[in-house]
Amino acid sequence: MKSLFPLFLLLSLLTWTACEKDEQVLDKAGDLENVTYNPEAYNLVIPDNFRDMVIPADNQMTIEGVMLGRKLFFDPILSDDNTMACASCHLPSSSFTDDLAVSTGIDGIAGTRSSMSLLDVGFQDKGLFWDGRSTTLEIQALIPVEDPIELHTTWAEAISRIRNHPDYPTDFRKAFGIADRKDITKELAAKALAQFERSLVSSGNSRYDRAIRGEIFLSPSELNGMDMFFDQSSVLPDAECGHCHNQPLFTTNEYLNNGLDYAADLNDFQDKGYGNVTGKKSDNGKFKVPTLRNIALTAPYMHDGRFATLEEVIDHYNSGGQYAENRHPLIVDLQLTEVQKQELISFLHTLTDTTFTNNPNYSNPF
Ligand code: HEC
Ligand code: HEC
Repeated sequence: MKSLFPLFLLLSLLTWTACEKDEQVLDKAGDLENVTYNPEAYNLVIPDNFRDMVIPADNQMTIEGVMLGRKLFFDPILSDDNTMACASCHLPSSSFTDDLAVSTGIDGIAGTRSSMSLLDVGFQDKGLFWDGRSTTLEIQALIPVEDPIELHTTWAEAISRIRNHPDYPTDFRKAFGIADRKDITKELAAKALAQFERSLVSSGNSRYDRAIRGEIFLSPSELNGMDMFFDQSSVLPDAECGHCHNQPLFTTNEYLNNGLDYAADLNDFQDKGYGNVTGKKSDNGKFKVPTLRNIALTAPYMHDGRFATLEEVIDHYNSGGQYAENRHPLIVDLQLTEVQKQELISFLHTLTDTTFTNNPNYSNPF
């Protein structure tokens, strides 16, 4: 009997601490009502030639919501071992990609896909991810936290940490008007993350943007590249790029096969991409056309990061790509000379927007 006593003591101590913890939360029930809830509309600045961004009625952007989303985006609190945040794979300096061919999560396990730029992500109206499997930013933001090759925790754990954090309950109150820290949910966290992501808009200050507004002149080499990109010249070859990477976003947001892999049969693709989502064999091997804005900052390239440089990308397109029945008809042997390939690359560099990557509102707030 005597030997059981310490165990009993230990057990009751454990139950007592567990209750203590619950009471801590209960004690503070309604404590947020004293914090002023008066959110201010966020003024989203969009370049004149962009279309309006469609923002869901139930998640209008506020200064408080965007700020909360920014904190969550940079906070390793959302990962199991507190080592990684969204920003670990989406670095502002790399236009919100991670400089790796494929991303690696907290357990060091590499995925099969390359991180995606979040520049102008709020304009994407045909699905998110390389294969379009997520429909909205609010739904997408729920995924990385529990993904075993990303932040690999549970939302229950993440929300418990947030509820017991010294600042977040007040931040959630200010952004969403909740009365109690128990009202903090993963859905509200995802809404805040989505608000921050919608604020990630091109500044309109790239050399390309300034040139089309007539503020600067591009060099002859950049202009030749632009003419080939958009097929604007009767003497230079058409590089076909602008049909899929069209202005002003430099993407149609469609899912296409740009000829990366040979497939005798459409079931042969190792990564079926869009086909996994639609279930249609004809969509196998199709991936989202990504934006080319800031493309000089987001190497390596393609959904699996197979190309290290823009030179390799241009060589791919110039070759006409690999055969597959659904390879897009605009992927053809372009017959560009070495000089023309370099001119195309010079043009791609005019899409670099360092005002965007250096924007202090997008940096780590901690
Ligand atoms: C371990 C690295 C990693 C972490 C952490 C991570 N991401 Fe990603 N992110 C990726 C990769 C890789 C993709 C592309 C995945 C795919 O297509 O299957 C991606 C895609 C996305 C996209 C789709 C963009 C588009 O253009 O379709 C969004 C949005 C996004 N991530 C936001 C987030 C948010 C928000 C977080 C934090 C909650 C986060 N990511 C955490 C690696 C990461
Ligand atoms: C038929 C449509 C189409 C045409 C034409 C096209 N692209 Fe693409 N582009 C895509 C698709 C689809 C992807 C993504 C493919 C993947 O990763 O599986 C892509 C990816 C890229 C990438 C990699 C982007 C990243 O974030 O990794 C670059 C760079 C690129 N294209 C440049 C160009 C250039 C330059 C041209 C003209 C020479 C061009 N593209 C022509 C559809 C096209």
